[in-house]
Amino acid sequence: MLDLLYKRRSIRKFTNQDIEAEKLDRILQAALLAPSSKSAYPCEFVVIDEKQINEKLSVCKPLGAGFLKNASCSIIVAGDVTKSDVWIEDCAIAASFIQLQAEKEGLGTCWIQIREREYNDEQSAESYIQEVLNIPSNIKILAIIAIGYKDGEKAGRDETHLKKEKLHTNSF
Ligand SMILES: Cc1cc2nc3c(=O)[nH]c(=O)nc-3n(C[C@H](O)[C@H](O)[C@H](O)COP(=O)(O)O)c2cc1C
Repeated sequence: MLDLLYKRRSIRKFTNQDIEAEKLDRILQAALLAPSSKSAYPCEFVVIDEKQINEKLSVCKPLGAGFLKNASCSIIVAGDVTKSDVWIEDCAIAASFIQLQAEKEGLGTCWIQIREREYNDEQSAESYIQEVLNIPSNIKILAIIAIGYKDGEKAGRDETHLKKEKLHTNSF
């Protein structure tokens, strides 16, 4: 597990290679295996494997999403607010599971933040995506995880990255 965690980096450049169905299937299994507060399971996942749709989603906010137009696949991670008051936490864990399983499959990912982000002065990134994908208003969107084959390698982390001063034992 630690090897995988040291290796994972945010990948924003992808090749054109499609993701094999079995790999995508295992990534989605990982998403569905994430723990859930009170076993409420509020998370919903929308898989986008059509380039045209990913292109539309890539303009959901002015910065930090443009690279989505070159990803072979993306997964919208969203939560039903009527099912859980902690859907954000549940979705964040599921999104992380997606990223880690994708790394295990030799793929690259990047989290694209949607919650609290704006499409423009009048519309949120969330409502723009809800319109594009016909997502009802009770399903709130946390993030899009862009997935694809990495176009080039990014160095993994080593122990110098660890901010050990953030660790506390028994009291702060
Ligand atoms: C909650 C969260 C939101 C993020 N939002 C974006 C984003 O909108 N666009 C983007 O390109 N990267 C985004 N990232 C990726 C971070 O920029 C990246 O994780 C950070 O720079 C550390 O780099 P690493 O993932 O390679 O270790 C986000 C990461 C997290 C955890």
